Amino acid sequence: MSTYLVFGATGNVGRRVTERLSWSGAAVRATSRRPESARLPEGVEVVAPDLTAPGVLEDVEAVFLMWPFHSAEQAGPFVEAIKRNVRRVVFMTGGGVRPGLPPEEQPNPVARWHATVEHLIEQSGVEWTVLSPSTFMTNTLWWSDQIRAGDTVRGAYGSVTMTPIHEDDIAAVAVAAMTGSGHGGRRYDLTGPEALTQAEQVRVIGEAIGRPLRWVELSVAEERERLLADPSFPDSFVDELLAGYAKMTSAPPPAPTTTVEDVTGTPPATLAAWAAEHAGAFERFPA
Ligand SMILES: NC(=O)c1ccc[n+]([C@@H]2O[C@H](COP(=O)([O-])OP(=O)(O)OC[C@H]3O[C@@H](n4cnc5c(N)ncnc54)[C@H](OP(=O)(O)O)[C@@H]3O)[C@@H](O)[C@H]2O)c1
Repeated sequence: MSTYLVFGATGNVGRRVTERLSWSGAAVRATSRRPESARLPEGVEVVAPDLTAPGVLEDVEAVFLMWPFHSAEQAGPFVEAIKRNVRRVVFMTGGGVRPGLPPEEQPNPVARWHATVEHLIEQSGVEWTVLSPSTFMTNTLWWSDQIRAGDTVRGAYGSVTMTPIHEDDIAAVAVAAMTGSGHGGRRYDLTGPEALTQAEQVRVIGEAIGRPLRWVELSVAEERERLLADPSFPDSFVDELLAGYAKMTSAPPPAPTTTVEDVTGTPPATLAAWAAEHAGAFERFPA
């Protein structure tokens, strides 16, 4: 039986990829730095996240790869190991990558690392598919503490439009590309079904959980201060995030693609469905 390797198997998307493969009866090997707390389906073999380690890619038909690292240092050795051992790789790239631009011309470091991995994979001779997802619906959990504490979400750039996607829809496309044919050499732009401003996303979540939630616009300076004071939000990411939103306000709003349905035969989930599934995360704090 073919084995599938999922890199980053405890992540938002990797966990869903692992579950989908495992529930289909496939043999799955999955990476985690903490196997004891990985909570992956029974039968999944958990290994350390090093594709160059002996045995990790043995008998592997296809790899799901994402890039959790803060440099592209390991990209060369990882892609070399994939090239030597594996027929197919599905790489989930970063949202900021501009296709067609070489890595060194990408707009920020995160995009440069992801573009470097893409470039190496595309040059490797391995059958590859790149998944380029829009913003994950799970990002709305950034608002969960505010929603648990009251009926408003305070933030800047409420009019910025996104096409949020359910992590499981990305996983469904990943599994189709890992296990099926016809996906080699394709770069899939994956989105959810709707274009929604941040303020609209808050309203939709409210409707799904039965509360009248509302966006309260902050100035950029107020939002910067709020994010820097939030211990759950990495300080190093604050300015990058705000600069990204500023750029998005001046760019044409993104439009949904049909790729999830084209590849899987199933339309992507709405934010309302995602929020109903995650309603527990938005429940009011006990009084
Ligand atoms: N969020 C978005 O809106 C969005 C949009 C487009 C693209 N993306 C891209 O999606 C990726 C993030 O995916 P995700 O949200 O599914 O992941 P995630 O939930 O952040 O999980 C990260 C995964 O990587 C593993 N990991 C973390 N640090 C590691 C390290 N130093 N060495 C080895 N493994 C490590 C973790 O495993 P253990 O902790 O178990 O070891 C975990 O399985 C990024 O590349 C991001 O650019 C995100």
